[in-house]
Amino acid sequence: MYSNVVFCSLLLFGSVTCLIREEELTVLSVQEFLTKYGYLPEKIKGFDYTYTKQAIADGVKKMQAFAGLPQTGRIDVETSKLFKMKRCGVKDIVKTKSTRGKRYILQQGWDKKTITYSVLNGSSTLQKSRIESLMAAGLAVWAPHGGLTFRQHETKPDIQVSFVSRDHGDGFPFDGPGRVVAHAFPPPHGAMHFDDDELWGDNPNEEDEDVTDFFAVAVHEIGHALGLSHSNVKASVMYPYYQVPVEKLHEDDILGMRELYSSVTNENSREVSEATTEAVNSRSSVVPRFTKADSEDEEDIPDLCFTYYDTIQVIQGKIFVFEEEWVWVLSERKQIEKGYPKRFHDVFVGLPKYINVIKTIYEKRNGHIVIFLNRNYWEFSSRFRLIKRGRITEYSLPPQVSELTTVFVSNYNNRTYLIEEERFWRFNEDTGKMDRGYPKKMSAWRKVPTPVDAAIVWKGDTFFFQGPRFWRFDNRLIQAHEYYPLPTAQIWFPCDPTPEMARYLTNEEA
Ligand SMILES: *[C@@H]1O[C@H](CO)[C@@H](O)[C@H](O)[C@H]1NC(C)=O
Ligand SMILES: *[C@@H]1O[C@H](CO)[C@@H](O)[C@H](O)[C@H]1NC(C)=O
Ligand SMILES: [Zn+2]
Ligand SMILES: [Zn+2]
Repeated sequence: MYSNVVFCSLLLFGSVTCLIREEELTVLSVQEFLTKYGYLPEKIKGFDYTYTKQAIADGVKKMQAFAGLPQTGRIDVETSKLFKMKRCGVKDIVKTKSTRGKRYILQQGWDKKTITYSVLNGSSTLQKSRIESLMAAGLAVWAPHGGLTFRQHETKPDIQVSFVSRDHGDGFPFDGPGRVVAHAFPPPHGAMHFDDDELWGDNPNEEDEDVTDFFAVAVHEIGHALGLSHSNVKASVMYPYYQVPVEKLHEDDILGMRELYSSVTNENSREVSEATTEAVNSRSSVVPRFTKADSEDEEDIPDLCFTYYDTIQVIQGKIFVFEEEWVWVLSERKQIEKGYPKRFHDVFVGLPKYINVIKTIYEKRNGHIVIFLNRNYWEFSSRFRLIKRGRITEYSLPPQVSELTTVFVSNYNNRTYLIEEERFWRFNEDTGKMDRGYPKKMSAWRKVPTPVDAAIVWKGDTFFFQGPRFWRFDNRLIQAHEYYPLPTAQIWFPCDPTPEMARYLTNEEA
């Protein structure tokens, strides 16, 4: 395993030397940056594989485009500066292209207009009371644009501000002084973390480059905590790289707020409004994720051969592949049916418009099709019409489960497997009950990767998919077959073999 990693790194090094300049930027640090901020697909946990030279150059171009630099695809002087600049730790490119044609990218806002916050502690250089007043000033910058009211509230605040350093338990460790200075989570989480290894100051005119202005960073992070993503508009507050001073919002930030909050009324419950408009998609008070589709733009359809897949499922004996807002239907391996890809909203009639990605879907034993998102599910008839909406707790899952990553029905025992990242439950649709002894750890299925993006039963065999690869599962041995993983694109989709394919074939780990 270890030697394998080293070998891969060397290979990588050799294949992209054109990218290295006099800077001490290594190929690996370039890749790390690109994947961290969403310009390259994420690596799969536990596996090493090569990004092609082309993929890296494309990632660099995307990064340059976002930052407003010429898209050379090379690490030129200006580009190399970006790698070292102070910036926010949140991803620039959120994988789903939810707002095509719009510069700002929306996530989800709070479904209320009165939002509580609290400051847990101050930094090593700024007292808590000072942070509290700067936070209040930062919140006041945003409040008018969503008609929001912010209240300080110590217990269970919506937004909690704290200063932490290095690994602080949320899976996004800070990196010591410089570079990443803060990050924040979108609703409904709302935490804002500031890297306490920075030298925080409260004077935006401070000349010392080592000092980071708290107010400037706070205004940006509040944008995330309210649901905004990064913007490629340099003058906007939501631009990912550190800029001072911050005085007011840019039109781009304001438009984002308007879209997030204009339809939220105070004490509005999204659940209720959604339930009453079920099946009828017009006049929903739910924030639309993508407003109108622009003219059909071929460019925007992902290439099935060079992408990850949100999920794959077998429905009515055909293979459905989901990526972004698209679905492909294949009657056989490598045979895409005529007319595909289509927008999945055109296939699943009545699916709420704000759903912009399908990651978890399965066909029930009774032929209904169920789409999961967070704690909810939508059930469709075998003719793809919405017939029911419900909560995943109806599957007898504990309330702590906030999302299912994969669901499939095994042909081995006719049971429904509900997978949440590293663990799974077994549900009996005939009795409507959960089987005893669950959840179990995914590691019970030996040599199967976690988390899996998809699990399907195809012509009697069970397959697991993750990233660009798939595994065949042996129901009797309860482990993946030898000789897997293999590349998904070249085996399931009409894609030409590539030189990289050989790597999958010789990969001896699983
Ligand atoms: C702030 O509180 C968090 C959470 O309790 C803690 O981990 C962190 O060390 C504190 N930071 C400072 C600067 O005291
Ligand atoms: C699963 O269900 C199908 C159809 O309902 C049935 O034909 C098959 O025998 C069942 N398999 C098992 C293992 O129970
Ligand atoms: Zn940010
Ligand atoms: Zn954090």
